Amino acid sequence: MTSHLQLSDDLLDRYNRPTPRYTSYPPAPHWGDAGPAHLIGALEKSTRPLSVYMHIPFCERLCLYCGCNVIINKDHSAADAYVARLIAEMDLLVAAHGHRVNQVHWGGGTPTYLDCRQITELFNALRTRFCLDDNAEVSIEIDPRVTTLEQLVTLRSAGFNRLSVGVQDFDPIVQQAVRRIQPFAMTSELIEQARSLNFDSINLDLIYGLPMQTLTSFERTLQQVLRLSPDRIAMFSYAHVPSLKHQQRSFEKDLPTESEKSDLFLMGLQTLTSHGYEHIGLDHFARPDDPLAIARATGSLHRNFQGYTTHAETDLIALGVSSISHVGNTYAQNYRELAPYNNAIDEKRLPVFRGYVMSADDEIRAAVIESVLCNRVVRKLDIQSAFSISFDDYFGFELDRLSEFQRDDLVEMDSREIRVTDVGRFFVRSIAQVFDAFAPAGVASKAV
Ligand SMILES: C[S@@+](CC[C@H](N)C(=O)[O-])C[C@H]1O[C@@H](n2cnc3c(N)ncnc32)[C@H](O)[C@@H]1O
Repeated sequence: MTSHLQLSDDLLDRYNRPTPRYTSYPPAPHWGDAGPAHLIGALEKSTRPLSVYMHIPFCERLCLYCGCNVIINKDHSAADAYVARLIAEMDLLVAAHGHRVNQVHWGGGTPTYLDCRQITELFNALRTRFCLDDNAEVSIEIDPRVTTLEQLVTLRSAGFNRLSVGVQDFDPIVQQAVRRIQPFAMTSELIEQARSLNFDSINLDLIYGLPMQTLTSFERTLQQVLRLSPDRIAMFSYAHVPSLKHQQRSFEKDLPTESEKSDLFLMGLQTLTSHGYEHIGLDHFARPDDPLAIARATGSLHRNFQGYTTHAETDLIALGVSSISHVGNTYAQNYRELAPYNNAIDEKRLPVFRGYVMSADDEIRAAVIESVLCNRVVRKLDIQSAFSISFDDYFGFELDRLSEFQRDDLVEMDSREIRVTDVGRFFVRSIAQVFDAFAPAGVASKAV
């Protein structure tokens, strides 16, 4: 094994804080009672193309690490009714817009919980209600354990052109600990099938910080991942939230320490970048010719609820339980449980349970936070000309706070720019958080 970078305990202690992922600003816990009327109003005003997200919450089995909004049900009988409600939800929204769609994503849960007939029905419903661009990015999250060749063929012929494949870790001991048994051969076979069906792009999801993971075992997983040559790799930081996800307690004693976890990330970063992947930001990596890497290089990378994206000029509408729309300056989230979601749809109401309309200050801060996370640099002039403010006057307090980060070589600052250093990128969410007016000062916990 090669030797890898390490972060000092002192830096980890001081900067490894609980930080939002900033897929929105302000983060969702700060939203209030903006509701369906705000979402409809924002859609009526919107002239941008749309990105459409659909959430399929069902899984056949629970992976013990899972932090997502899922409903475990081996019996698929609820799927037809759910598909019907997604279509009804589209109809509630469709009346309010006439936009084209240039991006579609189905996430979960496990979207391939739907069988071929249901996939076709739902996708056809989407096609007939929206105007889908010929070159739209159409992607879906795939669990190799429950996805058949027949489903892949159905997805490809419906129009899906990107797959995001859940792996997490190939080590059998880790798989045992998180109760997700997925042999390497199963994943590699699915990827071969996807390639023969000409899917344009394949992403693999990994998680670092899982129970029983060691530097040696995770490096072996990464070498196996490299053999599969995905276009993109997401290497997520394991989110441990046992108060919300009780099943995560079962392996608590086998979790790596914070310092071991940061070593796993640094090793992963070094391994992937030394094999030709570019670090897009936070947890994302891509081949240099991938649109995400190109967008990063040209400064046109953006961030939304799906993470990093090349689609700047889209509004996001999201369907299904727990999903989040972002249209213009308005956020809206659907009920997180099935019963109130179903009730709202059956009563012909949009199932929004909370939302938020951004203020002028929120928009300025969102732009700065996005620039930190996407470009690892904030150019003061860009913000000044976009929002007609004096950066140094507006952010005097934040610049003061950043001087500590500067002393620790996490950022470099001059009269024109704030730049995140190489070491600083491990704490990039903490750097972004300095600009978050909703963040309580001095909270302590994890950034990587
Ligand atoms: C919404 S899940 C759906 C994936 C799909 N059901 C599967 O299992 O293959 C998408 C990704 O979220 C990530 N994820 C889930 N729980 C997580 C956690 N507690 N911490 C970090 N990442 C997590 C995993 O990498 C997973 O592939």
